[in-house]
Amino acid sequence: RTVYVNGEYLPENEATVSIFDRGFLMADGVYEVTTVLDGKLIDFDGHAVRLQRSLDELEMQAACSKDELLEIHRQLVERNGIVEGLVYLQVTRGSDGDRDFVFPSADTKPTIVLFTQNKPGLADNPAAKKGAKIISIEDIRWGRRDIKTVQLLYPSMGKMMAKKAGCDDAWLVEDGHVTEGTSNNAYLVKDGKIVTRPLSTDILHGITRKAVLRMAAEAQMEIEERLFTIDEAKEADEAFVTSASAFVMPVVEIDGVALGNGTPGPIATRLREIYLDESR
Ligand code: PDD
Repeated sequence: RTVYVNGEYLPENEATVSIFDRGFLMADGVYEVTTVLDGKLIDFDGHAVRLQRSLDELEMQAACSKDELLEIHRQLVERNGIVEGLVYLQVTRGSDGDRDFVFPSADTKPTIVLFTQNKPGLADNPAAKKGAKIISIEDIRWGRRDIKTVQLLYPSMGKMMAKKAGCDDAWLVEDGHVTEGTSNNAYLVKDGKIVTRPLSTDILHGITRKAVLRMAAEAQMEIEERLFTIDEAKEADEAFVTSASAFVMPVVEIDGVALGNGTPGPIATRLREIYLDESR
């Protein structure tokens, strides 16, 4: 694989960053994951805008311009022959060569790294036909989940808890209300109405969420942005999650409770089709 690090395209085993990098020592960094279908980037602009917002919120420098970013994405897709897959982008605050809680001076160069992941079969994913089984766990993450930081230990632990329970993923619950999935936004469907948590600092402002809600509205589906409890979700007719890499993924079970007849619901299934059609 060819990867990109700080201005250079290199074979992956030749790319290096400092051991003092604050991304490594303090999870002081942000990231984006953009999907590639048919060799084309999905919603690059949305990801670029959210990246800039994450950087601004953390008072971090942009490592390069949006046009340069697009060019790097395209180069990596081409050089690595990605037809279906992902481009991972990470910007960390870099370092001035030592460990310190205080941010290094503002002219410290950020570290920028991009690499591709080849994922053939991403769109035609058999898991989407089966639907996902979810467990619920307490949301004990920090309070700025709207910033896409690389602090992913708890989401990672959540996925492991799900795996150990024989499930696919976990939904995070705060004060009885679902915030989001470990790496996706969460929705339920009741009596034909799609319910999802409104945007705030409590959840990541998903790029796929925005696209899917627009497409649902265009398809005359009813949408309600409000808090919902995990108990309400278990009594829903159907549920689903959205993310750049999972698109729209039906949820068929929560904490061992089957939703509807335990198979992917019609609204989730239709939204997945619409999303894939419109994105390509
Ligand atoms: N995860 N919520 C969380 C906590 C996420 O980590 C993600 C994305 C989303 C969905 O956002 P989007 O639609 O913009 O992908 C919601 C990415 C895919 C990841 O960590 O791999």
